[in-house]
Amino acid sequence: SFPRQVQIIEVGARDGLQNEPSHPDVATRVELLERLTKSGIKHLEAGSFVSPKWVPQMTKTDEVLAALQASQQADVQQATFSVLTPNLKGLEAAVQAQAQEVAIFSAASESFTQKNINCSIQESLQRFDAIMAQAQQINLPVRGYVSTVVACPYEGKIQPQKVAEVAKHLYEMGCYEISLGDTIGAATPFEFKAMLEAVIQEIPMEALAVHCHDTYGQALANIYVSLEMGINKVDSAIAGLGGCPYAKGASGNVATEDVVYMLQGMNIETGIGLQALCETGQWICQKLNRSNQSKVGKAMLA
Ligand code: HMG
Ligand code: MG
Repeated sequence: SFPRQVQIIEVGARDGLQNEPSHPDVATRVELLERLTKSGIKHLEAGSFVSPKWVPQMTKTDEVLAALQASQQADVQQATFSVLTPNLKGLEAAVQAQAQEVAIFSAASESFTQKNINCSIQESLQRFDAIMAQAQQINLPVRGYVSTVVACPYEGKIQPQKVAEVAKHLYEMGCYEISLGDTIGAATPFEFKAMLEAVIQEIPMEALAVHCHDTYGQALANIYVSLEMGINKVDSAIAGLGGCPYAKGASGNVATEDVVYMLQGMNIETGIGLQALCETGQWICQKLNRSNQSKVGKAMLA
């Protein structure tokens, strides 16, 4: 049955901007996050501590965090900002920058893991053991991602059992939440549901989030089936920004505006103000000189 409340995890400032050709500056990244918290979002990704050679857009994430920590805005102070850390070096930088939460990321596909973080799934899990050991010493919450949960740009269809296996490993290692990523947005609802059915054999529903890219226009349908199964955490990006640089053809995440509109209509609470959200979507698109990928954003501001 459907949840009464849903938590939105806003990934626009990370997933959304990591592939942005214009390399937005720190001030823009910070203002985006401030505006998003003002619309009521409480959980946001602020950036990544990854190799600057691999993803130059995410350099200076330490400066983004410092600016947020110095912010006088109550909404910013009450929000939780997370950062991606693929290895120990990333974790150490995140700790140095006083990150409140980190996320580790692997995948259900060997080829994608190689292309994305330059190691095998097994090696990634070993790296994460080291991250987890340090994070637990300082009570730093760690979120886990599994990418390519239905389809891989290099390997095609992925077996639900493989997703369940990697997700279970991350959960047992100590991740408090597992986000299931349809990285290339190719999944359709029955496939997505079959994947979730395999995963919930291993992990409690409350510890799962869905992370849908909207490349093929299937994201809301896949989110709908997830909600129907009882999942109450959804990752999304303002204005549908985004795409993974190591997944060819991966366009943006599902737009936060579109998810919030659907949830409002279903009487599911998010605590987010849709009008303010749409204005932020429009603002960031103008800043980046790109078109708004949120249908709701375009309709509401028309
Ligand atoms: P590597 O080249 O194998 O790393 O990259 P290495 O350990 O051999 O080090 C090579 C160089 O990188 C060294 O510098 C290191 O110091 C440096 P050099 O000596 O050459 O000057 N380095 C670092 N610098 C800063 N921060 C670090 C770091 N680590 C090493 N943390 C690595 C391995 C994982 C670092 C690399 O592959 C990488 O950074 N990948 C980034 C991948 C990424 O950010 N992808 C996008 C996010 S995932 C995603 O979008 C999917 C998701 O949204 C879910 C979904 O949609 O499915 C989450
Ligand atoms: Mg993503």
